[in-house]
Amino acid sequence: MIRPILLAALLALPVAAQAADARRDAVIADYAAQARKADPAFAGFSAQRGETLFRAKWTGGDARTPSCTTCHTDNPKAAGQNAKTGRTIEPVAVSVNPKRFVDMAEVEKQFGRDCKNVIGRDCTVVEKGDYVTFMAGQ
Ligand code: HEC
Repeated sequence: MIRPILLAALLALPVAAQAADARRDAVIADYAAQARKADPAFAGFSAQRGETLFRAKWTGGDARTPSCTTCHTDNPKAAGQNAKTGRTIEPVAVSVNPKRFVDMAEVEKQFGRDCKNVIGRDCTVVEKGDYVTFMAGQ
């Protein structure tokens, strides 16, 4: 339902920064297809669950990185800092960083690394879809 409105906005403002990206839609659609395959009762991703995942303090992973916010900060629109290397991390909110979550290989690589660091296990496909859905709305 939002699509036609977005499209109209994009057509009206061709030079404005555009957060919508078909490649990100494809990443979310891929996760949704995987989630439906694993569970036919899958009812869609939740930005709220994604936010909970982002802000939770976990105990299963590396004690230096108990939360996504340890490196990505409490504010997804702010630049982060890698707690291990000190390097700056670009903001993760799509509204301020439209290049986020557009490359499935990169997204999968980072989920693999970061979920193990923080939670001590891989994120589930629903957790990944929830997280991207949350950040796409930020
Ligand atoms: C040790 C620091 C650190 C922690 C903790 C961390 N990340 Fe990251 N994350 C990074 C770095 C570094 C990158 C790669 C650089 C970049 O994308 O700016 C990244 C990128 C990502 C990406 C790829 C985004 C894209 O645009 O493709 C995802 C997805 C991600 N992180 C998810 C998470 C989740 C989920 C958590 C919590 C479970 C988390 N991160 C915790 C450091 C961290």
